[in-house]
Amino acid sequence: MSLLIKNGEIVTPGWRAVADIYCEDETITAIGTGLDAPAGTEVIDAAGQYVFPGFIDPHVHIHLPFMGTVTKDTHATGSRAALIGGTTTYIEMMAPSRTEDLMDAYTQWQGLAAGNSACDYTFHIGVSRFDDQTEAQLRTIVADGMTSFKVFLAYKGFFGVSDEELYQTLVLAKELGVIVTAHCENSGIISQLQERFLAEGKTGPEWHEPSRPVAVEAEGTNHFAAFLEATGARGYVVHLSNERALEAAVAARQRGVPLAIAAVMSPPLRERSDGAALWNALAQGIIDTVGTDHAPFDFEAQKSMGKGDFTKIPNGMPAIEDRANLLYTYGVSRGAMTLERFVAAASTRAAQLFDLYPRKGTVAVGSDADLVVYDPSYRGTISAATHHMNVDYSAFEGVAIDGRPSTVTVRGAVAVRDGEFVGDPGRGRLLRRGPSQGANRS
Ligand code: URP
Ligand code: ZN
Ligand code: ZN
Repeated sequence: MSLLIKNGEIVTPGWRAVADIYCEDETITAIGTGLDAPAGTEVIDAAGQYVFPGFIDPHVHIHLPFMGTVTKDTHATGSRAALIGGTTTYIEMMAPSRTEDLMDAYTQWQGLAAGNSACDYTFHIGVSRFDDQTEAQLRTIVADGMTSFKVFLAYKGFFGVSDEELYQTLVLAKELGVIVTAHCENSGIISQLQERFLAEGKTGPEWHEPSRPVAVEAEGTNHFAAFLEATGARGYVVHLSNERALEAAVAARQRGVPLAIAAVMSPPLRERSDGAALWNALAQGIIDTVGTDHAPFDFEAQKSMGKGDFTKIPNGMPAIEDRANLLYTYGVSRGAMTLERFVAAASTRAAQLFDLYPRKGTVAVGSDADLVVYDPSYRGTISAATHHMNVDYSAFEGVAIDGRPSTVTVRGAVAVRDGEFVGDPGRGRLLRRGPSQGANRS
C-alpha cells in the first residue's frame, strides 16, 4: 500500500512548506518536492490545501457510565465522527467508579474498543480509589503501555479520590514517570451549593453554573498544583473554563510545577471575558492542548433526567467531530492564532505530553502516516442533522465553520474522502506508550 500526497502546504509547529509526502505501508517514508511514486500508488493532489499531522483528542469519553446512564457513542460511531473531524487518535478516559475493580475495568474498556475503532486510540487510566491492590494494578497497567492516569477531584463518592488517595497516586506516578491528568473542581463546595439551591427551590439547569462558581475550579487547580509540588509528579489539568483557574495554573507553573493545561467546554461555560482569556492563552501556547471531553448524552432521553433537579442532568457534551474545525475557524481563520500553534494545540502537544511523539503528532519520515488534508475554502454549518456522532443534539447547532478535512489517512490508509468516511471500521489500533514501548517524550 503506497500513497502520495502532492503539492499541499505541510504545517507542523516547527516548520511549514509546500511539498509532497510519500507513504509506504503505514509510515511516511519521504518528504520533498517533485516526488515520484511507483505504479499503483494512490495519488492525492492537495494543491491549495494544508496538510496537517493527524489530530489527537487527548480527552474523550466513548464509554462513560455516569449519573445513572451511559454515553451514546460506541467506538464505531465515535471513531468515524472523530475521523471526519480530522482526529486520527483519541485518548479515552477509562473511568471506573470507586466500587469497580481496576483490572476488570481495564479489560472492559479495552474490550469495547478492540476491533471496533476506525482510528487509533489509547487510554488514560482512571484512578478512583487507592487501596491495597491499586499500586500493583497500576504498575501492571503502566508496564502494559498505558502511561497516563486520570483523577477526579470532583464527583466524590463516585469517581472522586480523597486527598490521601491523590497523594498516593501522584507518588506512584512520579516513580513510574507517568503524567496525571485531573478534573480540578472542589467537590465539597459544589455539593454544599447544590444542596442549598435545591432546598431553596432553585432546581433548573440555570443553577448548574452557580453551583460550580469559578472559585471552585480555581481552588481545584491550585489544590492539584499543591499536590504536584509536594510529590514532584507531572500533571495536566483537563478542564479550564475561566481566567481565575488559568491564573492558578500559570502561577503553579511559575513556581516550577510541571503542569500542562487543556481547554474544554465543561465545567460550565463562563463569561465572554473568560473565553477571550482562554483563546489568548491558547494562541500564546500557555494552554497546551484542546481536548473535547466528548461525552455524548442524548438531549431528549438523557439530559431530561435532570428535569426538576439540575444535579441529575448527566454532565458533558458531544464535540469529537467539531473540535479541530472550531479551533481552526475561531482560532486561525477568524482569530489571531497561527497555523503552527493550531497544529500544536490540535495534535503535537498532546503527542508530546502523552508519550506518542514522534510516532504521532508530526509530519516526519518514520512517523505514522496519519495525515489531514485540510480544505480552508470549505464553508459549512454544524448541525445535529448532519453530524456523525450518535447523539440527538449539537452544542454548536448553526455555528459556521471555515474549513474542514477533505482527506484523512490512518497509518497510510484513506479513511475520509471529500469529507465522507470511507475507511476500514476496524483499522484502529490500541497505542501502547512509554519507555517500555520505546516511545519518546519531549
Ligand atoms: O461535564 C463533563 N465534563 N462530563 C464528563 C465527565 C468529566 O468530567 O470529564
Ligand atoms: Zn472532568
Ligand atoms: Zn472527561
